[in-house]
Amino acid sequence: MSVATGTGAVAEVPVQIAQDSVLVLDFGSQYSQLIARKVRESRVYCELVPGGIAAEEIRRRAPRGLIFSGGPASVFEPGAPRPDPGVYELGIPILGICYGMQLLAHDLGGAVERAERREYGHASVIVDEDAGLFERLPRELSVWMSHADVITQLPEGFRPIAHSLNSRYAAIAGPQGRFGIQFHIEVAHTPLGKEILRNFLMKVCGCQGTWEAASFIDMAIADVRRRVGDGKVLCALSGGVDSAVAATLVHRAVGDQLTCVFVDNGLLRRGEGERVVDVMSKQRHIRLIHVDATDQFLEALRGVVDPEEKRRRIGRTFIQVFEEQARQLGDIDFLAQGTLYPDVIESTSHDTQNAQTIKTHHNVGGLPDDLRFTLVEPLRYLFKDEVRQVGLSLGLPEDMVWRQPFPGPGLAIRIIGEVTRDRLETLRAADWIVIDEIKRSGLYRKVWQSFAILTPISSVGVMGDGRTYANVVAVRIVESDDGMTADWAKVPYDVLGIISRRIVNEVAGVNRVVYDISSKPPSTIEWE
Ligand code: XMP
Repeated sequence: MSVATGTGAVAEVPVQIAQDSVLVLDFGSQYSQLIARKVRESRVYCELVPGGIAAEEIRRRAPRGLIFSGGPASVFEPGAPRPDPGVYELGIPILGICYGMQLLAHDLGGAVERAERREYGHASVIVDEDAGLFERLPRELSVWMSHADVITQLPEGFRPIAHSLNSRYAAIAGPQGRFGIQFHIEVAHTPLGKEILRNFLMKVCGCQGTWEAASFIDMAIADVRRRVGDGKVLCALSGGVDSAVAATLVHRAVGDQLTCVFVDNGLLRRGEGERVVDVMSKQRHIRLIHVDATDQFLEALRGVVDPEEKRRRIGRTFIQVFEEQARQLGDIDFLAQGTLYPDVIESTSHDTQNAQTIKTHHNVGGLPDDLRFTLVEPLRYLFKDEVRQVGLSLGLPEDMVWRQPFPGPGLAIRIIGEVTRDRLETLRAADWIVIDEIKRSGLYRKVWQSFAILTPISSVGVMGDGRTYANVVAVRIVESDDGMTADWAKVPYDVLGIISRRIVNEVAGVNRVVYDISSKPPSTIEWE
């Protein structure tokens, strides 16, 4: 089976994945991906597809329901994105959210007009009919509104099922399981949004709600086996959860046809390189080539202070080392990557031709033309939390599965200024203490990232009877859902106090610790 991606390009999808599924038709809302995630949290498999997907393609994939996302356009504007009209002939239940609801109204013969004023923010909605969408929910719902257009006339056969002070039609229902809601059920500002969505999925569409990431394992293994045949597969391990899970799945599928290459760039945190070798090679018996390329990376970084130049040089060096290994292995047909669904969505919605863009921070995007592999991406339909579930079901250790995100260029972009062996050692020791204490205080999984930065500043201190002039270390701990925005974490003072005391006492060459209290935006999470 194959599916159209956002570009008209076609990607392989295993057949079984489509059972009991729902499609989200994306009309450009910033929340579209969130809708897909929320559907999967209700244990219904779901994919995000372009709003204009052909009705025939939908019929072939036989989803139990469709969700029309919101979007920034107005349905009455020329060129506004719309679904294939054939979608309405399929008889599949449809839930339209905001713009999606206006599309339903407009396309089925109702009227939509510009509102006198835009409605944005919290609102109260009164439920007028509690069957279907609002079953077992309170009569008054707190919701999040964001719209500039309103429905002024309902299509034939539709009726209002909820209203608000400003919207006569806060929610509508029509024949064949068609519903529209003027508010966003996918955001946290609509506290009962998940229940409304569940009602649509289970009561209206008749979904079973049995999807779980782990049930995906057997299917993914069969799929890899089918595609790879007796070919040879190469996989670059980074130390992170995505590449570890991808490699483990591929190994289950094709055993020793897989060779992993772990390029140790010397920029990892304490113990991470050893852990990769221990778990993947010693415990799981995966063929693993461990290349200690620390010297090469440090040489490439010598004298470099510009953050982007650091990234470029690290990327280039990685390619050189990886390429050399690949050539030595010879006869490799496939490259396994831990690409996740958000990357797939991003690359298909922005890039018209290149549906299989190699994730740049995996740093294998720049391989020469004579080293072209077919990509194997067993995780390309999973979100991060689902990859973690799969990792645990595959028996990967918790510390690896729950590792906080770590940037490809590693500690190099947390050493402000030149990266040297000594400065790496200093940062690694301070970073270890931050992680250790954050784990000890039970915050490790609650925060998005927690780490140390070695600043280029020296400050005066006093230790014993002597004056010191030594490094300042910054500590950055942030909360975030996706890394796009972040808030500095309000970590208890005593935890910060212990971190500071330990760093100054235990790490030679550091006499001061500061805590970064900036949020993103305007600051970024990393300092470089
Ligand atoms: P910023 O600093 O942009 O970081 O707020 C957002 C998230 O991305 C990670 N990050 C990177 N990851 N290569 C990566 O693989 C990079 O060059 C890079 N720069 C930032 C960062 O750790 C955070 O999670």
